[in-house]
Amino acid sequence: MDKIVVTGNGPLNGVIPISGAKNAALPLMIASLLTSDKLILDNLPHLADVESLIRILTNHGVDYKVEGKRLGQNGGEGRTVHFRAGEIVDTTAPYELVSRMRASFWVIGPLLARMHEARVSLPGGCAIGTRPVDLFIDSLQALGANMDVEAGYVVASAKGGLRGTRYRFPKVSVGATHVAMMAATLAKGETVLENAAREPEVVDLAKCLVAMGAKISGAGTSTITIDGVDELHGARHSVLPDRIETGTYAMAVAMTGGDVLLQGAEAGLLDNALDVLRAAGATIDVRNDGIRVARNGSDIQPVDVTTEPFPGFPTDLQAQFMALMTRAGGTSRITETIFENRFMHVQELARLGARIALDGQTAIVTGVQHLTGAPVMATDLRASVSLVIAGLVAEGETTVNRVYHLDRGFERLEEKLTNCGANIRRVSA
Ligand code: UD1
Repeated sequence: MDKIVVTGNGPLNGVIPISGAKNAALPLMIASLLTSDKLILDNLPHLADVESLIRILTNHGVDYKVEGKRLGQNGGEGRTVHFRAGEIVDTTAPYELVSRMRASFWVIGPLLARMHEARVSLPGGCAIGTRPVDLFIDSLQALGANMDVEAGYVVASAKGGLRGTRYRFPKVSVGATHVAMMAATLAKGETVLENAAREPEVVDLAKCLVAMGAKISGAGTSTITIDGVDELHGARHSVLPDRIETGTYAMAVAMTGGDVLLQGAEAGLLDNALDVLRAAGATIDVRNDGIRVARNGSDIQPVDVTTEPFPGFPTDLQAQFMALMTRAGGTSRITETIFENRFMHVQELARLGARIALDGQTAIVTGVQHLTGAPVMATDLRASVSLVIAGLVAEGETTVNRVYHLDRGFERLEEKLTNCGANIRRVSA
């Protein structure tokens, strides 16, 4: 299994192009199941999760064509991929495929809406807490589906199709919002989703669905209204820039010092995280072509952070921010409110010399002068990259094992960092 070896090497300087957002790409690809016409997605990132989802979609009968380079080949630009679900040949999403990635469970919404039935394995994904599916089941039930759990599968049916409804999510869920919104596009009548997720990826999906003929208003607020239509048609849509990748590299630069342009990044997608970085001592310059992040001379300041649904500080940047705080000139408190078990990186950061104490859902991080390289292991996607960020300033070599987590969500990470002066390489074991 591949490893990433990072050697602390001073400031980062240069340009890092920001890829299309993984968390938008996945639901957008799944939306292709809603129509027999072609959905063309531009700026799709090269990621293991995208390729896993393609395997799942082809199992349901989706044909795809990559413009230019083939899947798996590297290239500087995001790819354009054509998806066509001319005929759905199978409404079952099997365990072997769904267990690899939680978001693949989301096919349940479009399959149910278009085929009036779906049988989808309960999901797997990152080991960051129990992550149940009750909100999916409840909201689809509200839309008129019969929902059962049998032998590890969620079995859904809606004879005669889904019906519009008013449903209030008891808890904000990005995935359940995507799924209920997609399902409601083909339901009879109006659906109002309350306490919906406001994440930019929900807005991006709504834009694409509207381009496909759906009637949706309010995406980006906590109340989304969907007027069901008989069918959707093809469309072309460009995936929005990845705000988590943006925030991750911004934190890397805040950590190492230097001056980097995050090309194509959109500041409006991560205002809260950028404010936190400013408070931590980084200079953030929002430009037409991206965001320039610099830290020259000033120390890293401690900042307290609590993760929240959008527009709050994202849980997907919590681990990276904790890495940064390990070198702050003081003590910071980082509180995780979205997932109950998202502190697995704490022990690994400690192996590099970080001083972190856990108090329930809060990590108390006391900044240290030096980190020292060590072999570390990552248990989820964002935790892995936090170890890379720490490795960039650690003395000596940090070896990050289980790199497949990084490949799920970060496109050409080594290349992007090397181009800015980092000493980072992949070693095939
Ligand atoms: C998405 C993102 C993930 C991010 C998360 C929170 C994608 C592909 N993944 O994950 O990167 O960390 O949003 O911003 O977009 N929950 C329930 N019952 C449910 C569904 C969720 O209790 O039926 C809980 C979860 O366990 C969690 C919370 O709701 O505690 C939020 O999870 P959710 O927003 O659903 O996360 P995902 O959509 O899986």
